[in-house]
Amino acid sequence: MSNHYKKFLRLLEKWPVDKTKQGRDLGQHLRTSLEQILGGKNIVAVNNPKLDKQFQSLENLANNIYQQKYPPKRKNSRTMLLRRCPSFFPQRYFSNVLPNLQKECGKKLHVPVMANETIEYLKPNDNRVIIDMTFGAGGHTRRILEESKTVKVIALDRDPFAYKLAKQMEEEFPGRVFPILGRFSELPTLLTQMRIPQNSIDGILFDFGCSSMQFDDHERGFSISKDGPLDMRMDRDRCPDQPTAAQILAKIDERDLAKIIKYYGDEKHAKKIARAIVDARYSVKRIETTRELADLVHATCGGEVRMDKLNRSSHVATKTFQALRIFVNNELNEINYGMVLAERYLKIGGRLITITFHSLEDTIVKRHLVGNIIDDMANPMSLKFTSHMLCHDKAQIDNLLDTNWQQLHKHVIVPRFEEIEDNPRSRSAKFRAALKLK
Ligand SMILES: C[S@@+](CC[C@H](N)C(=O)[O-])C[C@H]1O[C@@H](n2cnc3c(N)ncnc32)[C@H](O)[C@@H]1O
Repeated sequence: MSNHYKKFLRLLEKWPVDKTKQGRDLGQHLRTSLEQILGGKNIVAVNNPKLDKQFQSLENLANNIYQQKYPPKRKNSRTMLLRRCPSFFPQRYFSNVLPNLQKECGKKLHVPVMANETIEYLKPNDNRVIIDMTFGAGGHTRRILEESKTVKVIALDRDPFAYKLAKQMEEEFPGRVFPILGRFSELPTLLTQMRIPQNSIDGILFDFGCSSMQFDDHERGFSISKDGPLDMRMDRDRCPDQPTAAQILAKIDERDLAKIIKYYGDEKHAKKIARAIVDARYSVKRIETTRELADLVHATCGGEVRMDKLNRSSHVATKTFQALRIFVNNELNEINYGMVLAERYLKIGGRLITITFHSLEDTIVKRHLVGNIIDDMANPMSLKFTSHMLCHDKAQIDNLLDTNWQQLHKHVIVPRFEEIEDNPRSRSAKFRAALKLK
């Protein structure tokens, strides 16, 4: 028997199989993987230095049975340790088993941002029906369901993995969660199929952007720090016509690419980056992975050092990644249409909550709320730049300022300091709540 196998067997002694967790017990899963990887007891020698590192992570995990060293809130908690053992827990494990594991060890796949404020302004009680337009890992939906036993949630998300999590929540809260898979722009069709009419919903919540699950999974291609295929499609393979970020970079015209990086990423080196990406197609190779894109942008920007809002160093490619992600997922058009739908489906007195993460998102929301809308689209120009000298028509001005919304607070609300400390991903959140007036 190989030394590796013996070592792992000793580790497993600390990790008893729990028969009550049929099909989702970590100890059992580990034993099966171990047999497959090390070839069972007959194998003589296995020389794999990577396994040593993974052994260490598994040992930490096994020693943490009482959750003392790695409490679930900490970043290096149980799930992080599991992720350091790719031989034992391949990606498929995280999609199939982790959602159950999450329930057991209390670890969250995504920490909901400004959840207390959401409950305070949404007031989910007394048989209310709420649409969570961005279910994600269901953090907000769970808080809403726990707030009142009679409230119901229609849980929408375009990501098939989020839909799977919503299905699990449906089992946990029978008759109270209604999962739907689709984008905001598919919602009217989906609600018609469910026979839900317009002007009938009590509350609508948008928590825009990507979830931590999407960022943390290197195979999704959203993350700069984890190498993976440059994909970035929130819908995964659900929409066959939707190109991946790599496919876009392989074909797009240089000037169009520069515009995308400039406007969606607010990147000052947009032209240089676009030129480098297009040049790479011919001189080196097509950009196909996140690492390749991050390195290329880094080289193009001459190793420039940038800081984020918390004064932590941030990668120079962050803005380019954001721009591509927005483009691949048509995010801004989706947000605009989502706001139109919110007005259409909320009943009078219904409540709207939006949580945005950058100014492009927040501007669209704000212009809908103040009525700065032209043909159902947020006006690209702020009202303060609309000169009264150029417009003498009172009806036109009144029309432009007419709004169906009353914002429920004076200034935009931002996360408390403690929340930002606990969950740095909340640092750029902006929260708005409004009532539908007519
Ligand atoms: C920030 S996460 C939401 C997290 C969630 N509130 C929670 O507490 O777990 C945003 C989610 O919205 C989804 N999403 C983004 N744009 C969407 C769209 N146009 N239609 C449907 N879902 C969308 C993403 O797939 C992602 O899962």
